[in-house]
Amino acid sequence: MVRDRESWLKSQAEFYENKLNKGEEMFYAGPYAETIKLKWLSFVGQFVFDGAAVLEVGCGDGWQSRWLANNGAARVVAIDLTPGFVEKARLLSSPGLSERISYICCAAESPQ
Ligand SMILES: C[S@@+](CC[C@H](N)C(=O)[O-])C[C@H]1O[C@@H](n2cnc3c(N)ncnc32)[C@H](O)[C@@H]1O
Repeated sequence: MVRDRESWLKSQAEFYENKLNKGEEMFYAGPYAETIKLKWLSFVGQFVFDGAAVLEVGCGDGWQSRWLANNGAARVVAIDLTPGFVEKARLLSSPGLSERISYICCAAESPQ
């Protein structure tokens, strides 16, 4: 089925908003979820130097952006096309972190 870009992005946002509203996990990793997260962060951490500026695309609730801001990044721009996730990410950031992380609701394909 051929769809235009805007309709496709809207359907993606609805898909993720629906997952968020149902409280579903983004990734099902069972009992290894925490181990996988830690391994992923140690991989990502290799590329972050003190004072780095980082763009996170598809930030979800922003857990990686918060980790980046707590581990050397001076500035993080975190984008996500699902409004509910951007709202949640903003709520989860402490005031100190909010100064260094900008959460923007937009699609990677149509940056603002
Ligand atoms: C599988 S979730 C991962 C969220 C987060 N990075 C994490 O690790 O928990 C994918 C996220 O990417 C967002 N997303 C999907 N396509 C996107 C796009 N084209 N532009 C921006 N965000 C997008 C979704 O709204 C969703 O929050």
